[in-house]
Amino acid sequence: MIIGVPKEVKDHESRVGITPAGVHALVAAGHKVLVEHNAGELSAMPDDDYQVAGAEIVGSAHDVWRLADLIVKVKEPIEKEYRHFREGLVLFTYLHLAPVPELTTALLEKKVTGIAYETVRDRSGTLPLLTPMSEVAGRMSVQVGAAYLEKEHGGRGLLLGGVPGVPPGHVVIIGGGIVGTNAAKIALGLGARVTLVDLNLNRLRDLDDIFGGRLNTLASNSYNLANATREADLVIGAVLIPGAMAPKIVTRAMVSQMRKGAVIVDVAIDQGGCVETAKPTSHSNPSYVVDGVVHYCVTNMPGAVPHTSTLALTNSTFPYLMRIASLGAREALKKDPGLAEGLNTFQGKVTYRGVAESQQREWTPAAGLLS
Ligand SMILES: NC(=O)c1ccc[n+]([C@@H]2O[C@H](COP(=O)([O-])OP(=O)(O)OC[C@H]3O[C@@H](n4cnc5c(N)ncnc54)[C@H](O)[C@@H]3O)[C@@H](O)[C@H]2O)c1
Repeated sequence: MIIGVPKEVKDHESRVGITPAGVHALVAAGHKVLVEHNAGELSAMPDDDYQVAGAEIVGSAHDVWRLADLIVKVKEPIEKEYRHFREGLVLFTYLHLAPVPELTTALLEKKVTGIAYETVRDRSGTLPLLTPMSEVAGRMSVQVGAAYLEKEHGGRGLLLGGVPGVPPGHVVIIGGGIVGTNAAKIALGLGARVTLVDLNLNRLRDLDDIFGGRLNTLASNSYNLANATREADLVIGAVLIPGAMAPKIVTRAMVSQMRKGAVIVDVAIDQGGCVETAKPTSHSNPSYVVDGVVHYCVTNMPGAVPHTSTLALTNSTFPYLMRIASLGAREALKKDPGLAEGLNTFQGKVTYRGVAESQQREWTPAAGLLS
């Protein structure tokens, strides 16, 4: 199969859909890989590395899309990429179709096979191609929070780990899923005092087992949240109710009671945020202050560390990519029901229920079309 890897064109997107290691494995399996010139540059993966691994470097995006049977990307195509769609093309990338009906229409009109990272499921029912970005954002949230606590960045001038004779800072993490657990690991590693709040008591039990007495766990209710945030130096928002907007459980009143120069990193901002005073920000202007509290609410945090993010993402996507390349999309989808959950558009039909419902389109289950 010919696999094409275009350079990402979405604003501030620095990741790339495949690494030189992935190229090496695909070429060894007998496939041909076309990588657009400088596709990996911003992830610190230069053309030379791809070439050594066996890729052909192609000068234009147009040629990558035109010559490939299978396109592997990171972000959903933006409008200027729609003209590359054609019947029979297989597209493997984050698609996030629900809020972009015009992209859905373009994929349907050209009968593109659209397999979306965000809806692929593994055997345990989790979303394996979303997990790595939550791991990155969770670990990064503490690093970012620690930096904003420095005086120079508007914080209260506090070193999270303290020093002998001076107590450490207090990190309050709200939500103990992938983001929250990874944040806890890094915060504990820095020597901070860490409290993790979750609604799910079984999750708190697991975390108590994993981290032992080093982590304080707390049941989520507004009384506990008000007390914990009032005493926090750094609050990390990491809640998720799948498929829904995040609940605003840290209220404006709670924020007003926080220490001046404390920091909030609301990672859940991509689902609207769990802090009432949070509003989406970007890497070019990441923070603002409300009631003396620094807010960092960047919706695509992994974009700041594209080298790590590309490696983490492709570690998870690559096994699927290899199967699609080797078996062909239809066979790969038929053999793996979890991958088939990723199929959003096929033969001009919407095959993912959530997308169909959110856009009032007809839903055609993938199983019927694949058999
Ligand atoms: N900003 C970014 O760049 C970025 C990157 C990755 C993930 N995210 C977002 O981070 C959020 C968390 O992702 P995740 O992968 O950790 O999700 P997850 O499902 O693994 O964890 C969410 C946790 O929130 C808990 N929760 C739900 N309601 C709660 C409440 N009222 N109080 C306390 N806890 C509650 C759940 O029990 C669960 O443990 C999501 O919104 C995700 O989209 C953002």
